[in-house]
Amino acid sequence: MDNNGEIQVFGHTFVPYLSAEDISAAVKRVAGEIERDYAGREPLFLVVLTGAFVFAADLFREVKMPATIRFVRLASYEAMASTGEVREIMGLDTDVTGKDIIVVEDIVDSGTTMHYFLSDLKAKGAASAEVCSLLFKPEALKFSEAEPRYAGFRIPRDFVIGYGLDYDGYVRNLPAIYTLKK
Ligand code: IMP
Ligand code: MG
Repeated sequence: MDNNGEIQVFGHTFVPYLSAEDISAAVKRVAGEIERDYAGREPLFLVVLTGAFVFAADLFREVKMPATIRFVRLASYEAMASTGEVREIMGLDTDVTGKDIIVVEDIVDSGTTMHYFLSDLKAKGAASAEVCSLLFKPEALKFSEAEPRYAGFRIPRDFVIGYGLDYDGYVRNLPAIYTLKK
């Protein structure tokens, strides 16, 4: 570790932002909210790969209730400008009809990904679909319905890495979250 825990990634300096302890406390809080809201139901956790897999592994073990989990991989195309488009790369392998779904994300930024995925789930007959995201950048949100029902942290519009979040595919294995030094 360098000064004050700063790290270098591809020539950029990142500073510690959310510690493993901060994250663990947020995961427990969010798990408690889900247990309370879904009491008597059996939610299906749909994890959006790749970034959310670390958060999902911790969250799923904190949720002490009957629940199932599946994984999807989505790709968004910002090139389509205002309309955008989200495609399932690795699709749903389970019937969502009548299911109460909790979509697990690492971060909701513009909300484009969640906007399209939620409407897709509704079209496929899900009974309900809510977003649970470790991080949420409210200032970047373009689609209000994509606002996470459950969010670990509301953060500014800065680039963050670690705990599943990548920089060009790397640093997902950092146990804490770092932000780009200004
Ligand atoms: P959205 O569709 O604009 O909400 O984008 C969400 C996706 O963008 C996330 O699932 C991440 O893959 C990526 N993303 C957004 N902000 C960051 C960041 O600060 N660090 C790493 N990935 C990010
Ligand atoms: Mg993602």
